[in-house]
Amino acid sequence: MDKREDPYSPGAGRAPFALTGRAQQTEDFETAVLRIESGLDARPLAFYGLRGVGKTVLLRSLYEKVKARKWITAIVEGRPGKDLRSLIGEELEEVLADLAKPKASQTVLKAVKTALSFLHLQVNTEGAFSLGLDLSSVDSSNAATGNIAGDFGRVVRDLSFAAEKSNTGVALFFDEAQEMSTEDLQAINTLAHRASQERYRLVLAIAGLPTLPGILAESNSYVERLYAYHELGPLSAEATAAALTEPAAFRNVEWTDGAIDFAVRATGGFSYFVQEFGSASWASAKASPINLKDARRADRLAQESLDTGFFKSRWTRATDAQKAYLQAMSLDGEGPSTTAGIAARLGKEPTALSPRRAELITKGLIYSPRQGAVAFTVPKMADFIKRQVTD
Ligand SMILES: Nc1ncnc2c1ncn2[C@@H]1O[C@H](COP(=O)(O)OP(=O)(O)OP(=O)(O)O)[C@@H](O)[C@H]1O
Ligand SMILES: [Mg+2]
Repeated sequence: MDKREDPYSPGAGRAPFALTGRAQQTEDFETAVLRIESGLDARPLAFYGLRGVGKTVLLRSLYEKVKARKWITAIVEGRPGKDLRSLIGEELEEVLADLAKPKASQTVLKAVKTALSFLHLQVNTEGAFSLGLDLSSVDSSNAATGNIAGDFGRVVRDLSFAAEKSNTGVALFFDEAQEMSTEDLQAINTLAHRASQERYRLVLAIAGLPTLPGILAESNSYVERLYAYHELGPLSAEATAAALTEPAAFRNVEWTDGAIDFAVRATGGFSYFVQEFGSASWASAKASPINLKDARRADRLAQESLDTGFFKSRWTRATDAQKAYLQAMSLDGEGPSTTAGIAARLGKEPTALSPRRAELITKGLIYSPRQGAVAFTVPKMADFIKRQVTD
């Protein structure tokens, strides 16, 4: 069928036509929003899962929800070498431009002025980002002390007071949180902790790889009880079916039950694979309904597309020595593998392999789900590696 009408969205952070299987997470978030609007507190949320399960698109959809409710909101993505002040700073400029109206109340102007002090420390020039407002007579908090936890806390507190005036709240989203420094994560945790004690109107959602709960726990001791954790796993059979049939129905195209059953098995419910599969099925089918034969052909197409893009791009990042390590891991399938087992397979001492393991973690190819164990950050990587070896 016509590729120009393909309703699927394989990629990174591309919003799917139908965000399926995330009703529980969405409901918990909406409950948090309603609790804040009625003057109660809300537990921060932490989402974690492998590459491509749908962390970014979930955060984005929650972000859109609070935006529609006129909340003060920002979404940032952790990146190595970027600190919280600059990440939040980039987002704050837009937030402040919305808030800074000449007729705004003193509470709102105070929040604006506090946030400006937070930004100005970063660019280090007074007035580099100006809103064209005279704030000289407005009282404010100092968010330019250089202590990120304190400064960030004061900005959010003042923004929360501003939000209270319009009976809304502040929602902050942190994606790729495993990339953030310990200091920055501590600042976020401290804020979350204080927010519930002092009733800031704040909803916080943080997302990252499966290492996130461990990383958070290492940064502050009270964190296990602070967040409501949600593991984002593969979509259920129903959610996978809906992710395939709903976009097609929009184009008046149906799927046969046989094709759907096949797709559920072939994709394992991994969101990104489901989108690739949908797209490949669309390309394979001549007309509605998409049938089992189309789905079988799509499976080969989707696999080729994943092999040459998604998997290959990761594989080629590894050196030969690292590839040998990954190959030894792949014998355990989806894993995890024990570091002792890998060492035995490679005929080395575990300690001799520690640097290699560390390099692969830094490259984002593997992670350590617990001490003495490693696993792939992307689903089905083991199968891909096995194909490389037999090819
Ligand atoms: N719940 C869902 N229903 C249908 N499709 C989804 C769902 N979640 C994600 N997708 C699709 O899966 C793909 C990956 O989504 P996304 O980029 O959000 O994953 P991610 O977990 O953030 O991955 P990464 O760890 O690489 O950043 C996209 O093509 C997106 O459209
Ligand atoms: Mg993402």
